Amino acid sequence: MKRSHSRRNNPSPQKKRKTVIFGLTGSIACYKACDVISNLAFESCKVICVLTQGAKQFITPLTLASLSGHPVYEDQFMEPPFSEPLHTRLAREADLVVIAPATANMIAKIAAGLADDLLTSIVLATRADILIAPAMNEQMWLNPFTQENVRKLKQGGMHFIDPVRGHLVCQIEGVGHIAEAEIITAQIKELLK
Ligand SMILES: Cc1cc2nc3c(=O)[nH]c(=O)nc-3n(C[C@H](O)[C@H](O)[C@H](O)COP(=O)(O)O)c2cc1C
Repeated sequence: MKRSHSRRNNPSPQKKRKTVIFGLTGSIACYKACDVISNLAFESCKVICVLTQGAKQFITPLTLASLSGHPVYEDQFMEPPFSEPLHTRLAREADLVVIAPATANMIAKIAAGLADDLLTSIVLATRADILIAPAMNEQMWLNPFTQENVRKLKQGGMHFIDPVRGHLVCQIEGVGHIAEAEIITAQIKELLK
């Protein structure tokens, strides 16, 4: 992907800057999201990262703020609702909500309609398209509960980039490896068109 500082600093005036709410969850694959976020920021997208508590075990808010150039959110109670609560504001501002990597836990929570943290609350409150890139151990991915949750969300109109065969944690190989950053970036750009 061609990167240019001038594009980042001077987005084309006739084009509206797209806002991507970028959720990260508790997977080692959080490192892959860094490349996607960096690519989007250089493409003049406004990328707002939202972390689960699990994601914070794998990546720091400082890294994501540095790559995106925007504040990073993790707690829906962190900002006083001066005019609007944080989760509805971010849900409304989103042109696209991305969750990459998405854990089995996060997929299950969305499929159940839960809203017990900032990211799930945004997902429930948004009218924007949602793109999910799962990453997990092969058994977790093939588990019938996970497969049923994914089927339900796909049927409900959510976009997925299914995981591929590759290296998983503990030197194991199998299906569950998150898709490559370039593939995720390309799909995001397609959905933002
Ligand atoms: C080293 C390590 C790696 C993990 N990787 C994954 C993963 O890739 N996918 C997954 O679904 N869960 C993974 N987990 C388990 C999740 O972090 C755990 O289910 C957590 O509760 C997810 O919370 P969240 O969905 O709110 O981020 C991992 C746990 C550890 C300790």
